[in-house]
Amino acid sequence: MSINSRLPGFYKLSPSERFRKIVEVSGLAESDLASIVPLDEKMLSIADRMIENAIGTLSIPFGVAANFTINGRDYLVPMATEEPSVVAAASNMASVARIHGGFHTSSNQPIMISQVQVVGAKDPQGARMRLYERRQELLDLANEHDPFLVKLGGGAKDIQVRIVEGASGTFVVLHLIVDVRDAMGANAVNTMAEALAPLVSEIAAGRVRLRILSNKADMRLARVRAVYDRDALGGPDVVDGIIDAYAFAAADPYRAATHNKGIMNGITAVVLATGNDTRAVEAGAHSHAVVDGRYTSLSHYEKDGDGNLVGTMELPMAVGLVGGATKTHPVAQAAVKILGVKSAQELAEIIVAVGLSQNTGALRALAAEGIQKGHMSLHARNVAVAAGAGNEEIEEVVARLKDGGHVRLDKAQDILAEIRASRR
Ligand code: MEV
Repeated sequence: MSINSRLPGFYKLSPSERFRKIVEVSGLAESDLASIVPLDEKMLSIADRMIENAIGTLSIPFGVAANFTINGRDYLVPMATEEPSVVAAASNMASVARIHGGFHTSSNQPIMISQVQVVGAKDPQGARMRLYERRQELLDLANEHDPFLVKLGGGAKDIQVRIVEGASGTFVVLHLIVDVRDAMGANAVNTMAEALAPLVSEIAAGRVRLRILSNKADMRLARVRAVYDRDALGGPDVVDGIIDAYAFAAADPYRAATHNKGIMNGITAVVLATGNDTRAVEAGAHSHAVVDGRYTSLSHYEKDGDGNLVGTMELPMAVGLVGGATKTHPVAQAAVKILGVKSAQELAEIIVAVGLSQNTGALRALAAEGIQKGHMSLHARNVAVAAGAGNEEIEEVVARLKDGGHVRLDKAQDILAEIRASRR
């Protein structure tokens, strides 16, 4: 059946009215879509306040990673992810890192960059200098738009002006450098950039086009270091294997993408659990992975004098504790409480520690037994459930699937049929 995607006035309906409309327009049975509607009605009204055209919610498993010691303090780390093995791998490597004191972190002040693009300036170099000459006036104007942030010790602190050669002309690009304190900061810096536009246009004698933050938040870096015990990792050959795996990612963008994806498995899970902007953090991370024009590994591995593995990583981490879903979503609030963090910087540091742990866990598995062994146990459970195994049947189906070496739906269905036949 063909559907009509024109839905006039759809946005004005309540979520349940919209749901009924989608049932009607899609021609699907209500029972096919029922799982979209949360059991808790409160979640539906929260969803309705968070986005447009909401008809329901999607639940993602929320787990807690164990064993994390960061700067001498233990943390319970909430992670929201749909991928098996992620929480287990992060927890396992955190237990190995614990032997030598856990993760050690540091970070920059929470500084975001907002960009104002000027096109058509006749004298771009002159415009650049004129903007610097009026620095204080620009900063004062920006700060007038967020007195609360200024009161907290944040606000616009500096400017940088760059000349960017674009395909359609030369752009004078003003960077407003803003300390956003415990916010992710997008709203604050976007408002400031918009407020500066008329003055920037006047000073540069050009037309302002874009006024928006940069997700390449490279003035807001978080760093982590961990020493993983050689023997707990599985011995010197596993350490060398991890270093070869790292060297592969460092040298080859095809491998680096997968290597960094493994890091983001951990990072995105904590960012999501705490209601932060996963795409902003991902954009920041991947832009930071480009060094001298080449995409490479975000993490680094080497051996210390005792043959232990030293893992390090530094990347932009634009996360906040105030505003956005972190404030409006009750699960995100609960996640922040579990973490017990007091500042956005502390949260950023925990997140990079989880990213490193995740990465080391993946590399260890790849360098030692191969990734599929660990993945397969969890995958086998999913396959058993998909085949229709009840709670009392899952363990046996999983065990026989793994013994058989083929974790596939058809095999799980055959095993389940055999189990049920033998019971009759
Ligand atoms: C899978 O989600 C992540 C890995 O592919 C990461 C890696 O290869 O390093 C296992």
